[in-house]
Amino acid sequence: MSTVYIETYGCQMNVSDSELMYGKLQAEGYAPVDSPVGADVVLVNTCAIRENAEQRVIGRLGELRRDLKPGAVLGVTGCMAQRLGPRLLETDTRVQLVVGPDAYRLLPQLIEGARNGERSTATDFDLEEHYEDFTARRFEGVKAWIPVQRGCDYRCTYCIVPTTRGPERSRRLAEVVRETQEVAAQGITEVVLLGQTVNSYHDGSADFADLLRAVGAVDGIRRVRYTSPHPNDFSDRVIAAMAETPAVCEHVHLPMQSGSTAMLKRMLRRYSREDYLACVERLRAAIPGLAITTDIIVGFPAESDEEFADTLSLCRAVRFDDAFTFKFSAREGTPATRMPPEWTIPAAVVDARYEALVATVRGIAREKNLGRLGERMEVLVEKEARKGGELLQARSRDFKTVLVSGTPDLVGRYLTVELTGTTGATFTGTPVQERQPLPMAV
Ligand code: SAH
Ligand code: SF4
Ligand code: F3S
Repeated sequence: MSTVYIETYGCQMNVSDSELMYGKLQAEGYAPVDSPVGADVVLVNTCAIRENAEQRVIGRLGELRRDLKPGAVLGVTGCMAQRLGPRLLETDTRVQLVVGPDAYRLLPQLIEGARNGERSTATDFDLEEHYEDFTARRFEGVKAWIPVQRGCDYRCTYCIVPTTRGPERSRRLAEVVRETQEVAAQGITEVVLLGQTVNSYHDGSADFADLLRAVGAVDGIRRVRYTSPHPNDFSDRVIAAMAETPAVCEHVHLPMQSGSTAMLKRMLRRYSREDYLACVERLRAAIPGLAITTDIIVGFPAESDEEFADTLSLCRAVRFDDAFTFKFSAREGTPATRMPPEWTIPAAVVDARYEALVATVRGIAREKNLGRLGERMEVLVEKEARKGGELLQARSRDFKTVLVSGTPDLVGRYLTVELTGTTGATFTGTPVQERQPLPMAV
């Protein structure tokens, strides 16, 4: 039997796509393996979001070239494949396949061709494609990634995703519910709904509010998460659905990007600092105990000291539970690359701002987390923290990582823990017996 190995870079959407590709190729008779050494087919599922994401892949392709057995097929899939297309075949002569995110249906036949020595590129967008007939081969047994939307119709000026993933389209609600029921039947209790601006989901008749309620109502599903929403797509309906659906977790990842209205305009984010804060306040008013995490970019063209100070002050105003921080990376073809060259921020300034931002974000998270020691909460055990150490990694509904001691048989189980320590970012916890409810005072 032929074997296939897929190596995945980038966001959860790529992880989910790799699960679909594995599923498809398994259905076609390929056996999945967990090493490229000796595999008949090796696919690298790539990310193009920042320059360094692509550099890593280029480096990795060089390494793989040495590991591959003679005659093995090497393919590049995902966002970098879509972005570079046939250019990848020219720069790396060992690569035989370049397949974009909407063309995975063609993989079996393209691989067959490659085994006969062909080299090919497939990068057409297909607005109907949701891979409904593929059965994902999931990497994780505890939670399931469920794509509900592909592509993106925003045009943030820094972002390559609209180029690599094409126009936005939503899966039909009934299909999402069907897949959720299937994973629930396998014993999975948590689902994560995926889309680039997931709360703009609309399948022609149902919106994201309908989707949250429908998925949250599936038997056996105890936790529903989603990523990433756009601040502009939080209608009252969506917020109400989040608040009123018990399975939907008290966490939202709400990319901010910048705290300066002028900067947000240059980024074409379509909201102001005040709009962002108002969105946070509406969410917090509706959902008690809501944790908020975010994405922030520093060093975008023409970022002034004042604009950067606005980013720091918005972080302090919101008090994020955590933030992913990025240095701006110019992506070929995006509107940001057409801004005046004198707007470019010197690397040393970017580095200094980045350090200041990380310190601010970490300081806030640490303060918030220290304030929660002694709290009791429900966690879902996700995996062993490290092999054989009897230490487990668990997660709270509000997305805190909690390390708990215990044996691997607890993976997939819900525990009540008391938070006993924090590094500032993650917690340690001790399992406690769930207390009987106190008798009602009369
Ligand atoms: N669709 C999601 C974001 C996907 S990309 C959303 O709109 O929220 C994940 C994050 O990468 C973005 O939120 C942004 O912070 C960062 N990012 C995207 N393009 C970037 C670039 N060119 N340089 C640096 N960071 C970037
Ligand atoms: Fe990129 Fe903006 Fe679309 Fe997010 S919303 S994927 S940042 S263009
Ligand atoms: Fe990267 Fe593509 Fe995701 S560019 S972040 S893998 S959508």
